[in-house]
Amino acid sequence: MANHHSNNTILITGGAGFIGSNFIPFFLSKNPEINLINLDLLTYAGDLENLNEVKKASNYTFIKGDICDNLLVKHLFEEYNISGVINFAAESHVDNSINSPRQFIKTNIEGTFNLLENARIFWKTKNYRFHHISTDEVYGSLSEDGFFTEKSNYQPNSPYSASKASSDFLVRSYYHTYGMNVVTSNCSNNYGPKQHDEKLIPTIIRSAINGFKIPIYGNGKNVRDWLFVKDHCTGIESIYHKGKAGETYLLGGNNEYDNLTIATKICEILDYKIPNKKGSYSNQIHFVEDRLGHDFRYAIDASKVFKELSWKPNESFDSGLEKTVDWYLKKYQL
Ligand SMILES: NC(=O)c1ccc[n+]([C@@H]2O[C@H](COP(=O)([O-])OP(=O)(O)OC[C@H]3O[C@@H](n4cnc5c(N)ncnc54)[C@H](O)[C@@H]3O)[C@@H](O)[C@H]2O)c1
Repeated sequence: MANHHSNNTILITGGAGFIGSNFIPFFLSKNPEINLINLDLLTYAGDLENLNEVKKASNYTFIKGDICDNLLVKHLFEEYNISGVINFAAESHVDNSINSPRQFIKTNIEGTFNLLENARIFWKTKNYRFHHISTDEVYGSLSEDGFFTEKSNYQPNSPYSASKASSDFLVRSYYHTYGMNVVTSNCSNNYGPKQHDEKLIPTIIRSAINGFKIPIYGNGKNVRDWLFVKDHCTGIESIYHKGKAGETYLLGGNNEYDNLTIATKICEILDYKIPNKKGSYSNQIHFVEDRLGHDFRYAIDASKVFKELSWKPNESFDSGLEKTVDWYLKKYQL
């Protein structure tokens, strides 16, 4: 679909992270007339290697900096005449938020506020889009049945999800108070190439092939819905262009699996790709003390985006998982 904005420079934040670095090459290939400015602090979670394919593109610019830095963000709006924002930048790892929550409050809440406030002041009455990327974790935990919808109550349980929930509320308030053209998308767990080694799926792959114990929290029965990162990117693009101002959209893959099943599936793929003389990799699965306040289950009813925006995920979980394993085996040079 043709871009409806009169001016074409979008500020992407956190574009060197997992989802942002999958999104940028995809978005540029679909929207070659749009310029992207990628503002990323390059924390431990950001990696410019993941953006090699676009670094020389004439419509792509990287800026190292903090979304909390008011003067820098103001300067970028003015210098590049920013006419859209997609905010990926965040502290994103729940375990880190339990051990040291302070940076989560700063980046996720204050950083989002700083972007909103600069957009409001710079754009004045212009109807430019501000798209905030959020998570299904803001809705808390489900029991065995039921699904999150856009109407579910916010019940965040970790410092990470509480900081994301707070930022979602700020975004909402800029719609209701100032009439800004905001949208928020809340997505389930992503998996795929370029995810940081600290996260569950890379940890399972890395531990398995190095002959280490594969750590699984508690009894391994916590359930998440998984969406292939490239499907998340098509959903974001669609919502950015076609979502209604002030609305939220839930994105999910309809792939509910518990952590033990994920580990077992990955071990099966590895058993077939790089057979281990000592037997199945699944023998390395090892239960460790559960995460504090570990939410039991997340599941998403994504029918609003299916119906209103005709979005649907393309990748099946098994094929997406195999692509992910292949990407990490290449990364680890196996
Ligand atoms: N990964 C998931 O499964 C998932 C699911 C749903 C929603 N989300 C949301 O999507 C967004 C992106 O997640 P991700 O998995 O790509 O995260 P990530 O941790 O891989 O990447 C975050 C990026 O933000 C950058 N960053 C951190 N603090 C910054 C700051 N103060 N200023 C500028 N840049 C900063 C980091 O350098 C990194 O490049 C986050 O908002 C997250 O809450 C993630």
